[in-house]
Order: sequence, then C-alpha cells, then structure tokens
Amino acid sequence: MEAARLTRPITGSVAEFPVTWRRQRRSIGFSKHRVGFRVFAQDSAAEPDLSVTVNGLKMPNPFVIGSGPPGTNYTVMKRAFDEGWGAVIAKTVSLDAAKVINVTPRYAKLRAEPNGSAKGQIIGWENIELISDRPLETMLKEFKQLKEEYPDRILIASIMEEYNKAAWEELIDRVEQTGIDAIEINFSCPHGMPERKMGAAVGQDCMLLEEVCGWINAKATVPVWAKMTPNITDITQPARVSLRSGCEGVSAINTIMSVMGINLDTLRPEPCVEGYSTPGGYSSKAVHPIALAKVMNIAQMIKKEFADKEHSLSAIGGVETGSDAAEFILLGADTVQVCTGVMMHGYGLVKKLCSELQDFMRKHNFSSIQDFRGASLEYFTTHMDLVKRQREAIRERKAVKKGLQSDKDWTGDGFVKETESMVSN
Ligand SMILES: Cc1cc2nc3c(=O)[nH]c(=O)nc-3n(C[C@H](O)[C@H](O)[C@H](O)COP(=O)(O)O)c2cc1C
Repeated sequence: MEAARLTRPITGSVAEFPVTWRRQRRSIGFSKHRVGFRVFAQDSAAEPDLSVTVNGLKMPNPFVIGSGPPGTNYTVMKRAFDEGWGAVIAKTVSLDAAKVINVTPRYAKLRAEPNGSAKGQIIGWENIELISDRPLETMLKEFKQLKEEYPDRILIASIMEEYNKAAWEELIDRVEQTGIDAIEINFSCPHGMPERKMGAAVGQDCMLLEEVCGWINAKATVPVWAKMTPNITDITQPARVSLRSGCEGVSAINTIMSVMGINLDTLRPEPCVEGYSTPGGYSSKAVHPIALAKVMNIAQMIKKEFADKEHSLSAIGGVETGSDAAEFILLGADTVQVCTGVMMHGYGLVKKLCSELQDFMRKHNFSSIQDFRGASLEYFTTHMDLVKRQREAIRERKAVKKGLQSDKDWTGDGFVKETESMVSN
C-alpha cells in the first residue's frame, strides 16, 4: 500500500495542523466531476458503470457494509465480499475489548402497522449494542486473513478509543499492520461509549474532536473517514472540523438517540434489560429522511468550503433499495453504507441494490455514478428564497393571463388559449 505522506499546512479558523496528505488516495471531487443531466452518445445497451474510486480506493460499486453486526467477524465479512459488496467496514474495534460488555435484549423494532403488529413492515430499529466485544487480536488476525484472500477488495477498519493520544496511535498502528485500506473513526456511537468519553462524546465536542483528529491524522497512513453523529444541532460543524483536521472523508449518519417505546402493561421502557433500559440508537427506513437532510447539509458545506479539495462523503441511514441510494448520491455521496438493511434482508441485498441503481441510471441515461453525483444539491435553497421564487412565478403567470402584448403575438396553435387569456371573468 502506498503511503505518500507530504506535510501540508491547514489554514482556516481552526488551529493549524501538520497533517499528512494522502495525495494518491484522494477521491474525485464532485465539484469537478458532476456534470448533471448529460445524454451519452455511447451504445445504449452498455450497462451503467457502478464502479467508484474514493480517496484512491477502487470499488466495484458504491455499496459498503456499514459498521455493525454485518462486519463482526471473518465469516460474515467474507460473505459480504463474495456477494459483491463494494467495500466492508468492520464492526468498531478498540484496544481493550474486555471493557466492552453487551446486554440482551439489545434490539427493539418499530413496525408500520398499528400496535406494532408482528405482520407490519419494520421501519425503525433501536439498538443498545456497544462496539465489538471480540478481542482486538482476533479481529486483527481476521482483517489480515481477509486482505490476503481478497487483496483487491476494500476493507475498512472502524476504530474508537478513549481520550488518550498514545492509545489512538497504538490502535491505528495495529489496524494498519493488517493491510486494511482505510480507517473510519467512530465519533458517533450514542450509547454506552459516551459514558467512557468515547464515540459521540468526542463527535459532539468540536474542540475535543479537533484535537483527536489531529492525533489520528498525524499517525495514519491510509485514508481516514470521520463518522458523524446526527445527535447534534449542526452536523456541519464536526464535519468541517474533521476535514480541516486532515480527514479525507466524512461518513454520516450514525444512529439517532431514541427510546423505542414503553410497555404499557409493565410500564417499563424497551428494550428492557432486567426491568430497566437506556436510550439507544435508531436506524432503518425511518431515519432515511433525517439522514438525507444531514448528508445534504454536509455536501453543501463541502461544496462551498472545500471545493478545491477532494474530500469524500459516505452516506448512511435507512438504505434498502437502489432508489434510497440514488437519493444519497444525488445529494453528493460517493458511497452508500447499509447496516440494518443487511440485518433484515441478508448479504444478497447488494444484488438488488445494484440492479435497482442501474435501472435508475438507465432511465436517465447516466453511464456512471459521477454523471449524477450531487445533481440535486443545487435545488435546495432557503425558505426566504422559496417565497421569492413563488412570488415571481405567480407574477409571471398573471402576466401571461393578462394576454398578448401585441397583435403580432397571436399564434395559430394557441389561438383559443390566447383568446381566453384576455377574457375578463
Ligand atoms: C445493531 C447495530 C450496531 C451498530 N454498531 C456500530 C458500530 O459498532 N460502529 C459504528 O460506527 N456504527 C454502528 N452502527 C451504526 C450503523 O453503522 C449505521 O450508521 C446506522 O445504523 C444507520 O444506518 P442503517 O439505517 O443502514 O442501519 C450500528 C447499528 C446497528 C443497528
């Protein structure tokens, strides 16, 4: 793995950092490459190309296993590669798994039907699961084995540590030695870990985040993605800090702080562990609109403030169909992660995602992901601007109603409508 590390000063309101610049592994910036609704003169029978190159990482498609149960061990990650996922992000690891103690039950589902009928479609999922409780040594061995068996496939380690520079450095060093292609930093787990000043506790505190990102980027030799928590007023703030502090990309969103419900017989909250519960992380279909908004906010910020850089954006939240993924890409995402969708539908889901995304691309004559990445971003504006636009549109419609400006404007085809436009009611 190449590791061209040049020192680069970062300028801006955030303190300057001597960060390493993984120049050859950068992604293709959407500011340069989004060309909107182009029609291609090429053979219409050619399959739309789903492959993407993000921060120098080549993937056969933009679909990435999101960190969680679908990336917990060798067997399931191997399965993900075999089924054709573009990349795999393993379950988050830390130095000392012995400190990670899970409880059961740790999941709770929200169904679409009234009273949560078991037949109703699952639309929301809460978990109070922690990061990986498997020994780091075991996980590292499995990363190494996977990279030996699948050298051309992209394996990303997700990591989290306590507020301790040496601990972050050791963890980065150890995961990099396995040959993984990139690192995602879990700055976003909303439950359990913040009690140890980890996860969302860092992602919600921009000063802490800046410091920790500085440590991480001074050490890492592979691309680094910072995974954002949605449990914050303005998600662009930590995203901006992460990018200014040397991360190559951001991922959004992790789960949304939630309480799935209260059992009205027992009066106890769900998921209920020995009669008690704790707020957990919400995922699945119900979070998709919230994730779209957060991804849109981050993409606009990147476009405005980092247009000359080639930072990447990995979108996550409630993806189960190719259309869900198309929406994220239209907002500027390079890759699309899926976690709960795999837990509900299995690893074969990637085939459906790919074929549905290709159907969408065929419909619009897009031959590659770059052809439509970020294409919908320009249609977001302020509410004040919507009012102005509507006022102008009404004025224009009324002007048309007022009729023709001159007798030379009469046409044969529109004669009846033109007559009608000058009738007073
Ligand atoms: C059971 C479960 C465990 C998760 N564990 C992790 C984790 O260890 N690290 C992490 O960064 N995100 C974790 N996540 C968050 C997911 O990666 C993802 O950000 C979130 O669930 C939203 O995406 P989805 O709707 O596709 O699941 C977990 C999610 C679930 C449902």
